[in-house]
Amino acid sequence: MKLILFILTVLMLVGCQSPFTPEGKVTMPTAILPVAPTLTAQPTAPPTVTPTFPPPTLVPSTANPDRYEQARRLGRGVNLGNALEAPVEGEWGMVIQEEYFALIHEAGFDTVRVPIRWSAHAHTDAPYTIDATFFERVDWVIDQALSHELNVVINMHHYDELFDEPSQHQTRFIKIWEAIAERYKNTPTQLYFELLNEPHGNLTQNKWERLMSETVLAIRRIDNTHTIIVGGADWGGIQGLLNLKLPEGENNIICTFHLYDPMLFTHQGAGWVSEAYGTLGVVWPGPPEVKITPIPEAEQVNWVYTWFSQYNAFPYETNPAGPKPIRTTFDWAERMRERLDCPLWLGEFGAYEKADMQSRINWTSFVREQAEALDIPWAYWEFGAGFGIYNREDEGWNEELLRALIPE
Ligand code: BGC
Repeated sequence: MKLILFILTVLMLVGCQSPFTPEGKVTMPTAILPVAPTLTAQPTAPPTVTPTFPPPTLVPSTANPDRYEQARRLGRGVNLGNALEAPVEGEWGMVIQEEYFALIHEAGFDTVRVPIRWSAHAHTDAPYTIDATFFERVDWVIDQALSHELNVVINMHHYDELFDEPSQHQTRFIKIWEAIAERYKNTPTQLYFELLNEPHGNLTQNKWERLMSETVLAIRRIDNTHTIIVGGADWGGIQGLLNLKLPEGENNIICTFHLYDPMLFTHQGAGWVSEAYGTLGVVWPGPPEVKITPIPEAEQVNWVYTWFSQYNAFPYETNPAGPKPIRTTFDWAERMRERLDCPLWLGEFGAYEKADMQSRINWTSFVREQAEALDIPWAYWEFGAGFGIYNREDEGWNEELLRALIPE
């Protein structure tokens, strides 16, 4: 009788217990071992088995990398922006060329981030198939990066329809990620998946967290190895990480944030932001030698008017175009890293070409130094377009800006 009960108990345990922990490590043998020698025959109720999460279809990881090590490895990076996230590559003037990878590697970068507008290359109806030629183009970019000893982060960029109508697009978003995971699941772990660039609009924090968790789970059913990178809602700034809830049970994740403070300096005269950012000649750091009068469109906006009053008057230490807001961001970053127990990556920072070059250099080196002082890896926005460190026409680096990033 004892023997029969023992066999029944073991069978029940084996039947119910998933062999995988949320990290996908095999745990089964330890779950049944202690039962055998001490069993006394009173199993009137079935033994309770703690349900596992995620479900047992999770793919086991062969080499689940350490997230802090994965973040450290990102080191110094650059965004290959304005290419694959344009509606069609080339439409924004930038086409990724083979020679860029060698140049980037030789300059001392460790990583390229590749913004990609997958939504423009996937069917709008289920099963949302991704265009084969486009996928091959991404294969090529990944191969090039890896063969030049560069880590490569691919993301989902400019999925504008998702920001407008999250509920209409969440299934498509997940399905696109499933297709990406399926295609690259056997690629080395120098490839990283960044779920979504700068979530915003109607994709509010709660909606984004839910979608993020579902997407992570969907990817993990296919690929339990590659590191996933996530940012917070409200345009991916540090404040988006303040209340972020990371997917439960997931330990191969990096948290990202972007830094463009102050926008009135980094985005002065940029065509894709509002007229309030149209005042040119804003230097970094402030205050300017000669006071600046904001353009009328800027003066009409209260916070912009106040910003310029302070910019013209406040000393370096407290100037809104000074070290203070940037230091504050990094103070928050340090706290967020601890609170979330999530390594950080500064995935974008940069100043647009309409700012004067010396100010761009000042700002870029200051931000880079702050990040490195806290061991936060980074990727500059971007390689060869409006914020560019490489001049594609002259086929040469903007040496001073490059030195602001890679001083040695
Ligand atoms: C956007 C780019 C923009 C950059 C700086 C990126 O996240 O996708 O279009 O140039 O931020 O604003």
